[in-house]
Amino acid sequence: MKKIKVMSIFGTRPEAIKMAPLINKLEEEKKVESIVVVTAQHREMLDQIVDLFAIKVDYDLDIMTPGQSLSDISAKILIDLEQVLITEKPDLILVHGDTTTSFIAALAAFYHKIKIAHIEAGLRSYNKYSPYPEEINRSLTGVLADIHFTPTINNKENLLTENISEGDIFVTGNTVIDALLEVIEEDYSFEENILNRIDFKNKKIILLTAHRRENLGEKMAEIFSAIKELVFEHSGVEVVFPVHLNPKVRKLAQRILGDLKGVYLIDPLNYGDFVNLMARVYLIMTDSGGIQEEAPTLGKPVLVLREVTERSEALAAGAIKLVGTDKEKIIGSVNKLIIDSAEYNRMINKKNPYGDGKASLRICDYILYCYRLKNVKKEEF
Ligand code: UD1
Ligand code: UDP
Repeated sequence: MKKIKVMSIFGTRPEAIKMAPLINKLEEEKKVESIVVVTAQHREMLDQIVDLFAIKVDYDLDIMTPGQSLSDISAKILIDLEQVLITEKPDLILVHGDTTTSFIAALAAFYHKIKIAHIEAGLRSYNKYSPYPEEINRSLTGVLADIHFTPTINNKENLLTENISEGDIFVTGNTVIDALLEVIEEDYSFEENILNRIDFKNKKIILLTAHRRENLGEKMAEIFSAIKELVFEHSGVEVVFPVHLNPKVRKLAQRILGDLKGVYLIDPLNYGDFVNLMARVYLIMTDSGGIQEEAPTLGKPVLVLREVTERSEALAAGAIKLVGTDKEKIIGSVNKLIIDSAEYNRMINKKNPYGDGKASLRICDYILYCYRLKNVKKEEF
């Protein structure tokens, strides 16, 4: 039987979450030999996901170092991946989204004239430095890719304006919804015990995450100071903050929010805990990309701690709101959602524009179709 060798390459938590359902589909497919390579740009936060979705890793480049620079990550991946590509000679590599792992893996594959499929292609903020360096990572990966799997029609239109040929683009929905639907449970009991003790019924619980490089320093200090003031102001409000393992984030979080009554600073949560926590909180404040995509499925409003977002569909649907990093603006926006129930209701229970749980199936089928291992092309999302 003719088989194609497909190599999935990823390295951070969000890529692992979004690639996991697709890798599991590829593994089931008899006409595919699936190889998994992790750069380990993240270590513990990657391993949490790899274990949860039982992904079998074939190559682990183990590149993470504390406080790594973008050049550290790029140089190591480019050098270390080369030997893997020479040894395995895949027909196609899959990369995801906008991380430095994705861009550099695509560059390494290009140097060896190996075909590249880009999952979660076509998102654009059109701001070079926000998200930084992800806007440019995603655009450059798009330049290198042969097949572009876009979550939405909007994303496809962005690529068309960049003169990417329509025949190379396929709209799939976002695989994050596939992952989310696998782990969401109505009667969920948290592995992180602190969460089992939180009073979700009588308190207004805010879930906070923050890690973006462009927010590190002053801007992140503004966000944390806003949180501090909000818990002082409202005795009925508590904040859960699973703190990213980036030492710069942890130091600042500890300095401004450490030992504060009503603020739970905890370690990054496993994906099951995190998504089921999202489903139980009152509102979410974040600078994350993936969380903006997941929240509409869970019916929760998101205040986005950035000046721009490439998740324009959620913005247009009214499910998320851009508030930036100005302390007073953050406090004002949270107060509005706490006090004004009409404003709150306007943001919740929107249809999720990002997916229906079948993105991985569409991608897997389309790859087989491209290599003439399937005759019929699936419908786009
Ligand atoms: C990276 C991605 C970003 C993504 C984010 C998800 C790039 C340029 N950035 O962010 O797109 O949104 O991951 O979280 O690709 N650390 C650990 N253990 C871990 C993970 C991180 O200790 O499991 C610490 C290390 O000290 C590491 C630091 O966090 O050096 C920063 O990690 P890094 O991958 O460089 O994070 P970002 O670039 O901020
Ligand atoms: N997430 C998680 N545990 C946490 C925080 C986030 O599993 O403690 C998940 C979240 O549900 C989403 C993804 O991690 O799917 C987002 O990752 P992150 O915010 O690190 O990166 P981004 O999406 O901004 O690239």
